[in-house]
This record gives sequence, C-alpha cells and structure tokens, in this order.
Amino acid sequence: MSKSGQAVLEAIFSRRSVRQYTDEAVGKDDVQTILEAGRWAPSGLNNQPWRFAVVRDAKVKDEIAKQTRYREIIRNAPVIIAVFIDNRDSYDRTKDCQGIGACLQNMWLATHALGLGGVWLGEILKNKERVGEILETPGTYELMAVLAIGHPKHGQQKSDRKSLSALVFKEL
Ligand SMILES: Cc1cc2nc3c(=O)[nH]c(=O)nc-3n(C[C@H](O)[C@H](O)[C@H](O)COP(=O)(O)O)c2cc1C
Repeated sequence: MSKSGQAVLEAIFSRRSVRQYTDEAVGKDDVQTILEAGRWAPSGLNNQPWRFAVVRDAKVKDEIAKQTRYREIIRNAPVIIAVFIDNRDSYDRTKDCQGIGACLQNMWLATHALGLGGVWLGEILKNKERVGEILETPGTYELMAVLAIGHPKHGQQKSDRKSLSALVFKEL
C-alpha cells in the first residue's frame, strides 16, 4: 500500500470525537483546509448542496451553544463550523443528506489530520430554526450539523464499534 493510502486508513481508524479543547486558537489556514476538505466531498449530480458558517465570535457562539445540551463543547471550542444544506440546490433529499454526511466526514478527518480535534454535533438540530435565525441564513438553508473544532486537551478518547460479524449479514 502507498504511504498516502496508509495515512488515509490511519486517519479513518484513529479519528475520535474530541469534546475538550485547550485555549489555543485555531489558525485561519487550518480552517481553510478543513473547509476545502468539505468542498471536495462527493455529491449526487455533483450538486454540492452544503453551505458553511464559520463562527469564532464568542457572543454568537454562546447564543448557538444555548441551543444544545452540549453547550459546553461549543462554548469551549475556539471555532465552530455550522453546516447547512441549501434546499434550493437539493434534488433528492436522501442523496443530498448522504452528500452532506460525506462533507462532514471529510472535514472531520481533515481536522484530525491537522492535529486538531473535533466533534460532529447533531443534537442541536432540535433547534435548527433558531440557529438559522442567529446566523441570519437565507430561508432555503437548513442546519445539518455543527462541527466544533479546537486543539485537543488530551488524547484519551476511547470508542468502540459493533463487530463486523454483527454487521455483515450476507456474504455470497
Ligand atoms: C450524526 C451524528 C450526530 C452526533 N451528534 C453528537 C452530539 O450531538 N453530541 C456529541 O457529543 N457527539 C455527537 N456525535 C458524535 C458521536 O457520539 C460519536 O461519533 C460516536 O459516539 C463514536 O465515537 P467516535 O467519534 O469517537 O469514534 C454525533 C455523531 C454523528 C455522526
């Protein structure tokens, strides 16, 4: 396997949800790289329905934080990226949501590859309209997730998965 192939697999397997961050700022170039990784995600018909809001402003971040029980994560993250679907560009709800998922995973893996840590926040979707109001989004935008990003406070995140034997239900 090529070195870059190994690096991709390494990133996929070692990425964890990072929910605690140091006070260190996240550089503009790093945020740019993360957004580029999202931009290059695949989408059905290459319709690229994702839109991004980058929030560093503490006051705005605080307002958004209040919309989820995971408020401390958002408050402590130096930067968050709110990911929206533009329903005007949507052609098939299921496929568009799959594309947005690929976009988020790309950004999450890029975050990890840069030595940063992040977590995909979905619980906040219960208040997606309010988040849209706070960010003054166009009416066709709908919140899909918030990615919180920072420098990891520690590297002790653990996770597990169902065994493959519980997932592969047929092999012919
Ligand atoms: C669609 C989705 C929604 C999620 N929502 C939240 C959330 O609201 N709060 C949170 O702390 N983690 C959230 N997570 C992170 C998951 O809890 C995490 O990915 C899972 O437990 C596996 O752990 P790992 O990412 O460390 O491998 C979400 C992940 C996904 C993909």
